[in-house]
Amino acid sequence: MRVILLGAPGAGKGTQAQLIMEKFGIPQISTGDMLRAAVKAGTPLGLQAKDIMASGGLVPDDLIIALVKERITSSDCANGFLFDGFPRTIPQAEAMLDAGVDIDHVIEIHVPDEEIVARLSGRRVHEASGRVYHIIHNAPKVEGHDDLTGEPLIQRPDDTEETVRKRLGVYHDQTEPLVGFYQALAASGNTKVPKYTRISGIGSVDSIRQQLLTVLG
Ligand code: AP5
Ligand code: ZN
Repeated sequence: MRVILLGAPGAGKGTQAQLIMEKFGIPQISTGDMLRAAVKAGTPLGLQAKDIMASGGLVPDDLIIALVKERITSSDCANGFLFDGFPRTIPQAEAMLDAGVDIDHVIEIHVPDEEIVARLSGRRVHEASGRVYHIIHNAPKVEGHDDLTGEPLIQRPDDTEETVRKRLGVYHDQTEPLVGFYQALAASGNTKVPKYTRISGIGSVDSIRQQLLTVLG
């Protein structure tokens, strides 16, 4: 099964991707997590991406498309995968269609802008695994520490209010057009992208998970 989780920064893509991945045994492919790992390792890609990510802009399409094309050839993608934060532009989506990467479900998690800033200012992450928490809505068992490893949690450098507002603007300009793009494909009976579903991202993490599981059958 191949799934795209579409949604604004802070909509809950990463949170839900972790839960779906465990349930269906398919890997989460988060381009954000992959880029953060590249920045941390100081690879050439990381060096190019670092300042762009810190400012809330998008990393160039050609770099991202190459990264994803390589990732999906791994053996763990044989039964499918879950894209989280990709595609994020029309050229990225077209590159997948051109490469014959058919998608079973595109699911949009919709959260209004006002909610996003509060969510991201309370976000804490476990850097090594990408596991996501919120100081109030999804608190770790021990404050400031990852549930599985006990390691310390960090705040992402792009979660300042100013950068979050910039990321939201970029989302509306460059990523939201994918909603119409995929809806039109699904509505036209295109077998490469047969299903588009929008769910509300407002509610408990568990209630949103239940809605996703219903969509995915
Ligand atoms: P990326 O890492 O993809 O960031 P993003 O899309 O901005 O999304 P987030 O990770 O901020 O949000 P999320 O939807 O995963 O929310 P989460 O589950 O964490 O990208 C980072 C950067 O990398 C980009 O800005 C760009 O520079 C670059 N990049 C990445 N991909 C790229 C691409 N394809 N092309 C070009 N550039 C790219 O949840 C957020 C918070 O809310 C958490 O604290 C969580 O605990 C809490 N929460 C979750 N669900 C709920 C709920 N139901 N109720 C209350 N709180 C909740
Ligand atoms: Zn994320």
